[in-house]
Amino acid sequence: MSIKIYEYDAVIVGSGLAGLAAAKELTEAGKKTAVITKLHPLRSHSGAAQGGINAALGAEDSTELHEFDTVKGSDYLADQDCVELMCTKAPETIRWAEQMGCVFSRKENGDIAIRPFGGQSKPRACYAKDRTGLALLQAIYEQAFRAGVEIFDEWYAADLLYEDGKVSGVAAYDIRNSQPAIFNAKVTMFATGGHARAYRFNSNAHANTGDSLSIVARHGLPLEDMEFVQFHPSGLGGSGVLISEAARGEGGRLFNSKGERFMEKYAPNAMELASRDVVSRAIMEEVRQGRGVGKDGQSVNLDLTHLPKEIILERLPELRELAIAFQGQDMLKEPIHISATAHYSMGGIPTNINCQVRKNPEELVEGFYAAGECSCVSVHGANRLGANSVLEALLFGRHAGENMVKALDEGITLRKAQETDADNMLEEVNRLKTSNGMESVPVLRAELQAGMTADAGVFRSKESLERQLKLIDKLLKKFNNIRIDDKSKTFNTDLQEAIELGHMLEFSKFIVVGALEREESRGGHYREDFPTRDDEKFLKHTYAYMDKDFNITTEWGDVVLGKFEPMERKY
Ligand code: FUM
Repeated sequence: MSIKIYEYDAVIVGSGLAGLAAAKELTEAGKKTAVITKLHPLRSHSGAAQGGINAALGAEDSTELHEFDTVKGSDYLADQDCVELMCTKAPETIRWAEQMGCVFSRKENGDIAIRPFGGQSKPRACYAKDRTGLALLQAIYEQAFRAGVEIFDEWYAADLLYEDGKVSGVAAYDIRNSQPAIFNAKVTMFATGGHARAYRFNSNAHANTGDSLSIVARHGLPLEDMEFVQFHPSGLGGSGVLISEAARGEGGRLFNSKGERFMEKYAPNAMELASRDVVSRAIMEEVRQGRGVGKDGQSVNLDLTHLPKEIILERLPELRELAIAFQGQDMLKEPIHISATAHYSMGGIPTNINCQVRKNPEELVEGFYAAGECSCVSVHGANRLGANSVLEALLFGRHAGENMVKALDEGITLRKAQETDADNMLEEVNRLKTSNGMESVPVLRAELQAGMTADAGVFRSKESLERQLKLIDKLLKKFNNIRIDDKSKTFNTDLQEAIELGHMLEFSKFIVVGALEREESRGGHYREDFPTRDDEKFLKHTYAYMDKDFNITTEWGDVVLGKFEPMERKY
């Protein structure tokens, strides 16, 4: 079969806020740019971000306070140079987004409205009702489209062209008809979003299967800080569908089955607006102590009934609809059932401040960039503040775009791809498609997800993590014996889901191994057997590498410290 080889200056995988912002910069600078995405861009998970995007716009606020809150919220694991860049550029990013056409909610005086979010000392989440991500995504998509970015939607990037420390594009296939192609490029960027679908209860889109992480790891490149998974305090009970922190920002209160406003015990000052890690643990502790609500007792009540009806209808209309649709609970009339849900990944593909991917803590990969949730530039450290992710995606996406333009202008030669560069991908597709074994992909996936939620979730211990590690190794073996019934070339979702499951098993192993090795509690990583933070041993980034037999080894990398000295952090 002959394989088409496309040539571009830049190829970007992923079409959420980070990917589109980068693509727009590149195209406007005259660089021939392709975006490859397994979805239509407007279905990217950035569009599901609800509550806001942070910028210190309030009269009482400052970019330095935003930096401090971010570093403290990260449990001091964030790289402070990157945090400084993000927080100081945040106000300009909001103005830019507005100029791009994003319609933000307004105060009476016409200023952009801001609302409080957890772990932050001032209200600073700019929002568009409770559809902030969607408003931003639509605006940036329109602008990228207008600029002339070439978008290959419903294409699946299955392998990275990596040789001698240099990346020169990706191998991909068209999901419509399985036609393979090579996208040969001088610079390549991954912006593929998050991977919380490894958990049973999660707030993520179906597509958030973390493919790019193991694609990178299969080439012997590291993943950073994978043990840090964020559990959002308010997912709808039983499904995990996101109920934005905006609900608590607007005044929502949490109650257990005894009618106690239990955050008084866990964070008496910040209450429901403590950091996400603190609130999630409090909720799960109430559930563990038998004070949960709902049929299975696994949720708590989020009560907004004391708020004026107009606030809910005007600022939280989507959340109300979601709770009605999924649970038949109208927040205007009664509390809704919520529980902690896997939401975000602080770790990912390591990059430097310019979004260039690291080969190890000291060296960079040539021609390779990453931004947004799949990356770890490390602005979130061990725990991300709400409304910093949309900011990170947009700001570092643009920043990556600018840096790629600069690198191209300085002169990067194209390593000419060969048809054989698609061999790895074709071999994987063929192996999976011809699998006629006994194991079912949905069953293996469900086992993985249940185990991750139970044993590598909000609370972890050596015992639970070792159990999950054993399960993953068993599932990896079973994965060699799967059955794919659909042998067709047209929209073969059986094949697609099998490939995705392979990725989920591999990056989940990084999460578990990292969590086992990090014998302390920090941010979203809570070890019941090591309940305190240990800066002496673990004020370090984890870099983990996988070999061909899925063995994972780790090394530690330095955290970039700065003006904020690590201090005790309660909430
Ligand atoms: O709660 C939320 O609206 C989520 C926002 C975020 O994760 O940044």
